[in-house]
Amino acid sequence: MIIKNICCIGAGYVGGPTMSVLAQKNPHIKVTVVDINQERIAAWNDTDLSNLPIYEPGLKEVVQEARGRNLFFSTEVKKAIDEAEMIFISVNTPTKTYGKGKGMAADLKYIELCARQIAKVAKSDKIVVEKSTLPVRTAQAIKDILDYTGNGVTFQILSNPEFLAEGTAVQDLLNPDRVLIGGEESEEGKEAMEALVAIYESWIPRERILTTNVWSSELSKLVANAFLAQRVSSINAISELCEVTGANVGEVSRAIGMDSRIGPKFLKASVGFGGSCFQKDILNLVYIAKSYGLNEVADYWEQVIIMNDYQKRRFADKIVSTLYNTVSGKKITFLGWAFKKDTNDTRESAAIYVADALLNEQAEITVYDPKVSESRIYEDLDYLGTRSPEENRRLLKVVNDPYQACKDAHAIAILTEWDEFITYDWGKIYEAVIKPAFVFDGRKILDAEMMETIGFDYTSIGVSKTQSNK
Ligand code: NAD
Ligand code: UDX
Repeated sequence: MIIKNICCIGAGYVGGPTMSVLAQKNPHIKVTVVDINQERIAAWNDTDLSNLPIYEPGLKEVVQEARGRNLFFSTEVKKAIDEAEMIFISVNTPTKTYGKGKGMAADLKYIELCARQIAKVAKSDKIVVEKSTLPVRTAQAIKDILDYTGNGVTFQILSNPEFLAEGTAVQDLLNPDRVLIGGEESEEGKEAMEALVAIYESWIPRERILTTNVWSSELSKLVANAFLAQRVSSINAISELCEVTGANVGEVSRAIGMDSRIGPKFLKASVGFGGSCFQKDILNLVYIAKSYGLNEVADYWEQVIIMNDYQKRRFADKIVSTLYNTVSGKKITFLGWAFKKDTNDTRESAAIYVADALLNEQAEITVYDPKVSESRIYEDLDYLGTRSPEENRRLLKVVNDPYQACKDAHAIAILTEWDEFITYDWGKIYEAVIKPAFVFDGRKILDAEMMETIGFDYTSIGVSKTQSNK
């Protein structure tokens, strides 16, 4: 099957960048990205490319090349579905906040809505591609819904999970470790898979495009995220052991990472992992295991989340205990709010939970983040429902100058590893803060010796005080 028209439902962090690169590399295919969020679509269509709804290095250039040529952003969902031979579903699949599986299972209501809309609109055969991260066996549910159209239209369901990481989305899409495509083992299934392989082959070597059965593909996505997050929780668990024993977690990471069987990546101890995927996908994995009665399997993976929650709490507790057991009325400056550098995404960012814990202790927080807006920060805090929106605005301020943010602070906490934080004039910041000048580096980005020479009382994850004083 030759694909000339693609529709992608969902213009978010995955749909937007993925389809932009796909369109850039396949100028012969018309790619229409649709969303029910009009504001988001308007931002994707903004002539000023700095207003794109997502900040990703290199994204502007890709959009500039393809948009209006063969890449379109639209709110006309039905029209785009009707025209396309291949439809990607890239809508959000958050953790359920209600009913059965609340707090664990993936909420599939948006996926089901998409399937029902496709079933209603489709007048010709379609390949439906799951781009969203889904519980294993969701393809069956989508197929059930689609098969009830009763108008003779046939559907092939493929699973094609996305492995991009935010902040490096464009690079990851241009040069992925692998592309995974799962499909039915029937002739029609194989044909559908080949149609999708052909699209990726425009820029990705064939040997990096993996085809599997649908269930392996769906499950592999959850497992990949679980393994990555597990490495972070593992090294974070060791970070506490380092703090009490005089070992240095950076040195331990390097030492174990040089073992080619372990490898050096994803061994950076931190204030805890965030992002929209890790927690959600592990909770989903845990829920699936439990639903099959695999309690030991579920408990094993749940520990990754328990350790991550502990690491965030531990960081907040460390600030309070170091500041003589009270932060009430003290100004604490947060450098960074995003869940990692080079993104404006704050979903599940450790900063939110550390702030919440410190606000409970009546701290006064001032936040500076180079890419996150003030309104986003307040929305994140309000969403927790711990205190009233007025109270959040009274206790937490957002400023757009880092030096102003640090002025008269009792402590500075680094929550995101933005490169610019490393190059600040820390001598100048030292002059402006209240003494003793405490810095809590939740990302291990600053040089301990330099900070201590300036005069800071510098605390870093996974390093005991006596160790960093050497
Ligand atoms: P997102 O919230 O940024 O975007 C989803 C978009 O879908 C929203 O703009 C929403 O308005 C739209 N939408 C929802 N229902 C719709 C409907 N019925 N019709 C049209 N539009 C609809 O989410 P995201 O971060 O892009 O994630 C999407 C999926 O990809 C999730 O399943 C996620 O787990 C997965 N994923 C995300 C990442 C990541 O880094 N963010 C990486 C890999 C996979
Ligand atoms: C992740 C997966 O990496 C990606 O493949 C998947 O498609 C989506 O989920 P993302 O959440 O965007 O991507 O970013 P990632 O780089 O994985 O970082 C996740 C969190 O872990 C961040 O908060 C990051 O700061 C933290 N992290 C990562 C660490 O604390 N230490 C590390 O060594 C690596």
